Amino acid sequence: AGATAVLIFNGGAPGNEGVVIGTLGSPEATTLPTVGLSYAAGVGLLDAGTVTVRTETVSELRTTANVLAETRTGDPENTVVVGAHLDGVTEGAGISDNGTGSAGILAIAEAMAKTRTENQVRFAWWGAEELGLLGAEHYVGDLQDNDPEGLEDIALYLNFDMIGSPNYGRFVYDGDASAFDPGDTNVPEGSGAIEAAFHEHFAQVGLTSGETEFSGRSDYGPFIAADVPSGGLFTGAEGVKTEEQAALFGGQAGVAYDECYHTACDDLSNVNLEGMEQMADAAAAVVLRYATTTHDVNGVGEPYK
Ligand code: PHE
Ligand code: ZN
Ligand code: ZN
Ligand code: ZN
Repeated sequence: AGATAVLIFNGGAPGNEGVVIGTLGSPEATTLPTVGLSYAAGVGLLDAGTVTVRTETVSELRTTANVLAETRTGDPENTVVVGAHLDGVTEGAGISDNGTGSAGILAIAEAMAKTRTENQVRFAWWGAEELGLLGAEHYVGDLQDNDPEGLEDIALYLNFDMIGSPNYGRFVYDGDASAFDPGDTNVPEGSGAIEAAFHEHFAQVGLTSGETEFSGRSDYGPFIAADVPSGGLFTGAEGVKTEEQAALFGGQAGVAYDECYHTACDDLSNVNLEGMEQMADAAAAVVLRYATTTHDVNGVGEPYK
């Protein structure tokens, strides 16, 4: 039955642990400073040395954008969408996550500006992925609500989020649900063919490739939820490389693929240029393949040779 004090609490990013930054007589008198884009904030009761914290999310509103560019030629009713998120977390510069994917698809787009293809290719640099796939979600939701035929015209979606991790693995999204969630029926038909196309490329250039969860943890989430066949590449984030993976890909076992994931050290030095080149080449090969024919995914065009 000791004295009770009211504390101001600022939790940084939602989900973080809070820190006590002051005391006040009543919660109503509390004003909380804004830190970053959003933060968990609340008041707690200090009672006999224990702190109980009630948290709520307080957000600052900002406007963001998706950047879209598409080829002038190619069948617009069989469009290949290629995306990477352009935003990063506030903690760091976001070079590995996701300067690598953004720069990778920019290089592909620049090269393709000089080519003619069978299918239209649309490049998308998504905004606000880190706040919950907001850019991609908006894009797909807007098509669903306002342009269902436009959604129907998308043959497939290819995603590149983190393709140059320092301790990289050559991971392909498990689009056939063979390695993760075997038999997952929520995976759009055709995603397995996209996974196979990436593995085929790696085999052709003499590189081993592995698989990674096709769970919706990046901008392809809204596309697979809308039943658009999808695929993509990933070199690893906070996960730790296993002995088996070190034997397959090189690099260091027992170390995270990207030790600077979502932190201040995700700067220009946080890229493995060798891995980035291998993955960007694979991305380019598969984009070009589907710009030529999507036969293995949706039966449109001639079988790929
Ligand atoms: N989407 C995650 C991020 O931006 C990275 C990630 C991509 C994780 C793909 C898993 C699979 O932080
Ligand atoms: Zn991220
Ligand atoms: Zn990312
Ligand atoms: Zn698979």
